[in-house]
Amino acid sequence: MSVLDFGVLSTRRAKITAVSHYLPERRVTNKDLEKIVDTSDEWIFERTGIRERRFAEKGQTTSDLGAAATRLLLERRGITAADLDLIIVATVTPDMFFPSSACLLQTKIGAQKAWGFDLSGACSGFIYALATAAQFVGSGVHKKVLVVGADVMTSIIDFQDRATCVLFGDGAGAVLVEPGEDDERGIIDFILRSDGAGGQFLYMPGGGSLNPPTAETVKKKMHYVHQDGKNVFKFAVRGMADVSQEMLGRHGLTGKDLKLYIPHQANLRIIRAAIDRMELSESQVAINIDRYANTTAATIPICLSEAHESKRIARNDLIMMASFGAGFTWGSLLLRWEI
Ligand SMILES: CC(C)(COP(=O)(O)OP(=O)(O)OC[C@H]1O[C@@H](n2cnc3c(N)ncnc32)[C@H](O)[C@@H]1OP(=O)(O)O)[C@@H](O)C(=O)NCCC(=O)NCCS
Repeated sequence: MSVLDFGVLSTRRAKITAVSHYLPERRVTNKDLEKIVDTSDEWIFERTGIRERRFAEKGQTTSDLGAAATRLLLERRGITAADLDLIIVATVTPDMFFPSSACLLQTKIGAQKAWGFDLSGACSGFIYALATAAQFVGSGVHKKVLVVGADVMTSIIDFQDRATCVLFGDGAGAVLVEPGEDDERGIIDFILRSDGAGGQFLYMPGGGSLNPPTAETVKKKMHYVHQDGKNVFKFAVRGMADVSQEMLGRHGLTGKDLKLYIPHQANLRIIRAAIDRMELSESQVAINIDRYANTTAATIPICLSEAHESKRIARNDLIMMASFGAGFTWGSLLLRWEI
């Protein structure tokens, strides 16, 4: 089907009209991890800001977490899954290589009319996916696009590696993107960046076409997250702060104009470095890394959903999201809140 088959193209502003999240019930504290690896609550909290995280149950997949978040989303918006046109699932931990988690999610929720695909943008996956959804809605091609950011990071973590296993958790967040009636609110702008040269610092070497799974790749733990934490930290501080400042600058804004800044939750010290440069106060910043750790593609929609639930954000508030992750990938997105 060509784009024109969907009808006359327009350039309406895309809006988030509903938001939700789902977190697995199992809570794992730093103290719990002390029993598994040589670490301490003090080390983890001081270096990262994390106190606890959630772990999916055995057999609970990315599409399961995404489906739970989506059911709540549809209920909040008062529509059914059959109303959805497109499903984009941002994840680095799909249920399996194929079919996509978007297809698996589609059948779990019963979204017969929708098509869908997975998007691999690591910790920037949600912002990449939201910007992609905005194109389909803004062009007039689709009216209801579901964007899910979900990861089961525990499926690719080596619980013998204290340098990585303390950093991550599992979770999902979802938003519905629809055309707006006016141009006053909605997604205003985004900046998306990639630099493949950074791939060497954060990656999962096994399981793909480079190192297809064998007994040897498993023995060498190639199916787990490998990270050079110090280098990732350095690039993340600069990347997230730069892309946030660039966004403010090109709209003639300062940090003071933002009601809420939603940074990717990888490390509280990375977040603090970014907000220092923008002269934001912590009261303007969404932080939940202490409770959920780094849920990769899910951190930003979970923060957004919590801010909405607690009425921390209201209609017309200016919100900026920013992320940095494997790839390297990074970006920022500016919107005026609709709900
Ligand atoms: C991972 C990270 C917290 C490590 O913090 P750091 O201050 O750089 O710590 P280092 O890696 O220098 O390690 C310092 C020491 O702590 C030790 N250490 C590492 N993990 C530990 C843990 N969980 N508990 C206790 N000690 C630990 C190291 O072995 C090292 O010991 P050594 O000096 O005897 O060799 C930090 O680098 C980071 O957050 N990086 C970015 C990660 C990230 O955001 N990834 C996702 C991007 S989306």
